[in-house]
Amino acid sequence: MMSNVAKPAFGSVLTDTMAVAEYRDGRWQAHALQPVAPIPMHPAAHVLHYGSECFEGFKAYRGKDGAVSVFRMDKHIERMRQSARQLVLPEPDAAQLATMVREVVRASHGQVPEPPGALYLRPMLIGTMPNIGAAATPSNTALLIVLASPVWDYFAGGAKPLRIFVEEQTTRTASHLGVVKTGGNYAAALGPTLAARKQYAVDQVLFCPAGAVQETGAANFLLLREGQLLTRSLDSSFLHGVTRDSLLAMARDLGFRVEEREFSVAEMLEWVKTGEAALSGTAAVLAGVGTLVTRSGDHKVGDGRIGPVTQRLRQALVAIQTGEAPDTRGWLERV
Ligand SMILES: Cc1ncc(COP(=O)(O)O)c(C=O)c1O
Repeated sequence: MMSNVAKPAFGSVLTDTMAVAEYRDGRWQAHALQPVAPIPMHPAAHVLHYGSECFEGFKAYRGKDGAVSVFRMDKHIERMRQSARQLVLPEPDAAQLATMVREVVRASHGQVPEPPGALYLRPMLIGTMPNIGAAATPSNTALLIVLASPVWDYFAGGAKPLRIFVEEQTTRTASHLGVVKTGGNYAAALGPTLAARKQYAVDQVLFCPAGAVQETGAANFLLLREGQLLTRSLDSSFLHGVTRDSLLAMARDLGFRVEEREFSVAEMLEWVKTGEAALSGTAAVLAGVGTLVTRSGDHKVGDGRIGPVTQRLRQALVAIQTGEAPDTRGWLERV
């Protein structure tokens, strides 16, 4: 349909319908579907002053038979509830949020692009209590909104190997908040990311505080080679990606030796002399890294092209998401 015209940038277009639920009087009220439009907001709202906000990002895919299915919704809802708890925001009710997502997907059915496009789903939770003296007081009112955005291929023009800056001096976020999907973390990473883009002409920054490899501004980081996968073990310093979890499960099933542990920049640079590196996340799926850039210069990853293990794992995951391969783990929910 739109194959010959430029596709809108990721996230720049929304569908027509959103779901909205309000938390007040100590409980979640019934949600409603509404046309996507500006929301009334008190200028003293907690979120606007003290950053009480978290969100999620996941996708619904259109299968060959035209049916639309959401990928691992439960896991994303669980992560959103954990983010809310850590920010002392009212925790969304899991069943209500799942219903809101399904209703938005159904209302947006006609706007779900064919693969490699998808419908990107964005639940968001904000503290709305009007009180500018509440820096140390949680918001007792909140809004939960589910938005949807048709997205096309993240790599318009074909997948190209990424150029990544290895940042050992700045952290992405406060160490206990890395695991929380909150706006402030992205605000914190923006400055260092723009500075690195300008200075080193890179696509993204890989944060490696004190020389320990962590994650990039919006994706997890994996080292790969034939039959092997190495990634950082889960701790509170970075986001526990659902794509990461899915890829690790698939790699284990394929007989890979999967290692989850801390590793250093030095070990990573040694690995990529012959191995592969990739970023994993809902938006990028699994994106191959071609060059790691440190303050001392460029380090080619393998031959600088996207490696075969990266391509194979990516294709295997996409095949499950789009219904071309059997969904043996119950990751897809038809909506
Ligand atoms: C900071 C960060 N790390 C990792 C990820 C990957 O998470 P997921 O695979 O659940 O999309 C994301 C994207 O959501 C992210 O923003």
